[in-house]
This record gives sequence, structure tokens and C-alpha cells, in this order.
Amino acid sequence: MTRPEFDREQLVRQAMEARRHAYAPYSNYQVGAALLGVSGRVYTGCNVENAVYPLTTCAERTAVVKAVSEGERDFVAIVVATENGGTPCGSCRQTLREFGEQIVVLIADATGAYQETTVADLLPGSFSATDLD
Ligand code: THU
Repeated sequence: MTRPEFDREQLVRQAMEARRHAYAPYSNYQVGAALLGVSGRVYTGCNVENAVYPLTTCAERTAVVKAVSEGERDFVAIVVATENGGTPCGSCRQTLREFGEQIVVLIADATGAYQETTVADLLPGSFSATDLD
């Protein structure tokens, strides 16, 4: 399948903007995400921490939950924006994998510089719905 083209810089800017909403009083590590659906809609997200630390929701999962709960399940790309270009955690890799290995992942830092990869490259040999057949 050919991947739809999209404006990478614009999606990076949207993730950086979403990062401004991060609620991260415990780690002080703010994360923003912008998830582009096949429909063309963009779903943003940020990390939302909790005094009960394990209840924290990562930025990527916030964006995925927003999208799926609004009826979108097919995704082109996601940007994850942090101060230092930190990569998506294992839980977020698995959450994204649920919706496709070919999703493009852009990992951006606070300057807007980014590296490009895919869910397949971030989570090789992944477990998925086909394993349950
Ligand atoms: N975090 C994310 O939002 N996404 C990731 O992929 C990695 C970690 C958040 C969770 C927590 O609020 C903070 O970054 C430090 O772990």
C-alpha cells in the first residue's frame, strides 16, 4: 500500500503545540503528540500524570484514545514531541501497533528537528490480533 503524503512540518508543529498542555508535575517531562488519520483529521494528545503514578497516560495513547473514540481507526502518522527527542515507550508502541505496523512515527525535539521511523521498526516481531487466530 502506498503511504499518503502529508505535511511533516505541520504535524510536528501540532505535536509541539499539544505538548504545551502536558500535565506533568511529577516527572516535569512534557510530551505532545499529533496523530494523523486517513480521514485527514489530526488528533492531538499530551501526557496526563497522576499522584498515583501508574495512572499516568502518555501523550501518544491520549491521541489514540481520542481518535478511536471519535470513530477513526486508520492512521497515517504520529508525531511525538519532547524536549530531547525521547522515543515512544513500549506501551505506546504496542498501542500504535494495534492499528497498523506501517504508521509513520516522527520523533521530534523542542527545536522541531525530527527523525522518521515506523511502528514496525520500533516494535519488531510484535504480538498482534493475528496471534489470536
Ligand atoms: N511519556 C509519554 O507521554 N510518552 C512516552 O512514550 C514516554 C513517556 C510520559 C509519561 C510520563 O508522564 C513522562 O513522559 C515521563 O515518563
